Amino acid sequence: MAASGDRELKRVEKVYSFWGKFPYLYRMQDTITFLGKAGTIRKNAVKKLGLRKGDRVLEVACGSGRNFSYLAEAVGKKGFVLGFDYSREMLNAAKELCRQNRWDNIKLVQGDASQLKIDENGFNGVISVLGISAIPGWEKAIRRCHEVLRYGGRMVVCDARLFGGFLRFLNPAVLLVYSKFAAWDPSKNIPKQMKKVFGNVRAESYNLGTFFIAVSSKKNTAKKAKN
Ligand SMILES: C[S@@+](CC[C@H](N)C(=O)[O-])C[C@H]1O[C@@H](n2cnc3c(N)ncnc32)[C@H](O)[C@@H]1O
Repeated sequence: MAASGDRELKRVEKVYSFWGKFPYLYRMQDTITFLGKAGTIRKNAVKKLGLRKGDRVLEVACGSGRNFSYLAEAVGKKGFVLGFDYSREMLNAAKELCRQNRWDNIKLVQGDASQLKIDENGFNGVISVLGISAIPGWEKAIRRCHEVLRYGGRMVVCDARLFGGFLRFLNPAVLLVYSKFAAWDPSKNIPKQMKKVFGNVRAESYNLGTFFIAVSSKKNTAKKAKN
């Protein structure tokens, strides 16, 4: 019998095999999901990484590459972007986007983020947009992200949240749609897990609180040796 993690990964594969084959449909749903603010919110999330030209950045669950233009611009031609995703179809769409834009410094790798093991000399930043809430082993994935970051580097997560306040009554419908069409679980407390792993987190809300951008920095907690 398949373990529940395997079943969930199979679901991710199924859902994103569809979106990866139809990247223009994914672009359309992106506009709807972000209520027309996809560009602004994505750009803002990348800005919060605080990247400089020549930096190395990892995008976890990069999908079809909706953040690549912002990341490529932030690190410049001498920088490096690694896009990591479980879905081969989403990565095929990302590959085509890189080819069209001649982004030669973007490398794509397929795998499960909860098992993320990449020896790329460390990253100055790690970002995930609408990715962590879709990853079955998300808590482990955040720990892996912390491991691959250099000290001083930031992890930025932009993800979905359920309605609070008087719009709460919409949540059962939201959960149904997110689960069926995106394999998302927006009830995960991602900022809380980031705080647990990094020891710090700052989060801002967007679109009536239905999206957030959370930022954590990797601190060097090793005590300085006394002379
Ligand atoms: C909603 S899409 C987001 C894609 C992209 N980050 C964006 O901003 O449009 C969620 C992505 O998470 C990926 N994903 C889900 N589980 C994963 C896992 N365990 N490891 C790596 N990627 C995963 C899916 O394949 C999909 O591409």
